[in-house]
Amino acid sequence: MTMAASLPVFGRCSHAVVRGIPDSLAAEALRMSGGEAVDLEAARREHQRYTRVLGTELGLELRQLPADPALPDCVFVEDTAVVCGDTALLTRPGAPSRRREVEATKQVLNDLNFNVVEMTDEAATLDGGDILFTGKEFFVGLSQRTNQRGAEILADVFKDYAVSKVSVTGTLHLKSYCTMAGPELIAIGSSEHAQKALQIMQEMSDHRYDKLTLPDDQAANCVYLNIPNKGHVLLHRTAQEFPESAKVFEKLKNYTLIPVSNTELAKVDGGLTCCSVLLNKRA
Ligand code: GLY
Repeated sequence: MTMAASLPVFGRCSHAVVRGIPDSLAAEALRMSGGEAVDLEAARREHQRYTRVLGTELGLELRQLPADPALPDCVFVEDTAVVCGDTALLTRPGAPSRRREVEATKQVLNDLNFNVVEMTDEAATLDGGDILFTGKEFFVGLSQRTNQRGAEILADVFKDYAVSKVSVTGTLHLKSYCTMAGPELIAIGSSEHAQKALQIMQEMSDHRYDKLTLPDDQAANCVYLNIPNKGHVLLHRTAQEFPESAKVFEKLKNYTLIPVSNTELAKVDGGLTCCSVLLNKRA
């Protein structure tokens, strides 16, 4: 009798890459529109809690990269790499001011022995925030930051999976209003833009996903993990920030729910997923 290879558990992670917040974020981080000033001290407090949750509370091994003042958006490490299995695709971020962020991520992924692939084509752009991996397939948001060529390269690198493209409107990235909240469970915002993206994804997919509809688009950016001895874990925005969306999360059964506040980085278009690259080296 041969042993069947066990399928990877969706959301299982061993490591998290995070990066510090430089002072330059307050004045120089990119943002879709002007608006409120970032309180750096509060941003760092919120980010420290996020990091503590991943490391101390959930037991992931942290790789903490130092902030670089020359890279105001460097805390948003998600945009620098797409990792699936043992392969890591280093991106070519859509904003030229963010391209050098990839170097530090490259080093850490090489140190962890990932099969690292670089996106060298100068016609391609891709931000990790536009990549939704469902466990079954990839959806790539075509946005201000990610283009067709970037999507083609991703499809070429992750050949085992279907890759479908979705137009992103009304926000920065696909995952600004759409993430996975569990295996087969898509968290989606309620805005017309978010619902339109979901409709396109449903039309393009052979899979039938459940959906968790959040009244607030920003709350639909949550971090799902499957942690040994804990099972389903979800980091989500707090009831103080989004009271109606928090009520939706509270109805999830068999989940460890961890509210994490993100008021400051949200002012520069950062969501919860943006602040980590999650890796599984114990597969
Ligand atoms: N501030 C996040 C970004 O624009 O990429």
